[in-house]
Amino acid sequence: MKIHIITIFPESFISYFWSSIIKKAIDSNLIEFKYYKLNDFSSNNFKRVDSKAYWMHWQVISPEPLSKAIEHVFRVIWKKVKVIYMSPSWDLLTQEKVENYYNKLWEEFIIICGHYEWIDQRIIDLYVDYCISIWEYVISSWELATQVFVDSIARNIPWVLWNNTSLEEDSFSKKFNRQKEYPVYTKPDIFMWKKVPEILLSGNHKKIEEWKLKNLT
Ligand SMILES: C[S@@+](CC[C@H](N)C(=O)[O-])C[C@H]1O[C@@H](n2cnc3c(N)ncnc32)[C@H](O)[C@@H]1O
Repeated sequence: MKIHIITIFPESFISYFWSSIIKKAIDSNLIEFKYYKLNDFSSNNFKRVDSKAYWMHWQVISPEPLSKAIEHVFRVIWKKVKVIYMSPSWDLLTQEKVENYYNKLWEEFIIICGHYEWIDQRIIDLYVDYCISIWEYVISSWELATQVFVDSIARNIPWVLWNNTSLEEDSFSKKFNRQKEYPVYTKPDIFMWKKVPEILLSGNHKKIEEWKLKNLT
């Protein structure tokens, strides 16, 4: 999977994408990121990419540099791929939707990150295929919303998780009817007077599977 990220802050992806599961996926060539610094597409002498919103007191990202950056990616990769914009108010992500987005986007896509209050609406009208929300609350960072989305998509790529069973048996998986996962225990068998359920120590696989389904929370 190849993901093109247009952003003013490429460095903000380093700490997270250079650790954890995503780092392992990059090292195994399962996922590749290309970053495009939005300011490089500005024709302004000071590389500014924002302007004051009409009749508002805040700044927004101007359409020209964003449009140039998106067209640049289309040209470099020689194809028109889907363009994503993260936004609190649009399509709310669920695990089922993550799986659908993975199926639609698995090969290659672009994510645009804005800054200030918003991006010019015409970029959304002209270029954006999917506006995706990580849920109904507002965070200040386009980059953080992008990282949440990318992580949720990336774990669906075969071999990204060391154990694919965990993907099948995660909370909200199809196998569990989109319900939350069952409780999980490890050694010791007794901790502060609390015992591991007897059935999990029995070694009876059939009964354990039944217990898991009965104990979805
Ligand atoms: C301060 S928010 C802008 C909020 C915008 N003015 C509004 O009222 O919808 C900055 C950016 O972070 C990202 N963001 C914030 N919360 C998000 C969420 N729940 N889901 C997806 N993206 C989010 C979006 O890209 C958003 O434009």
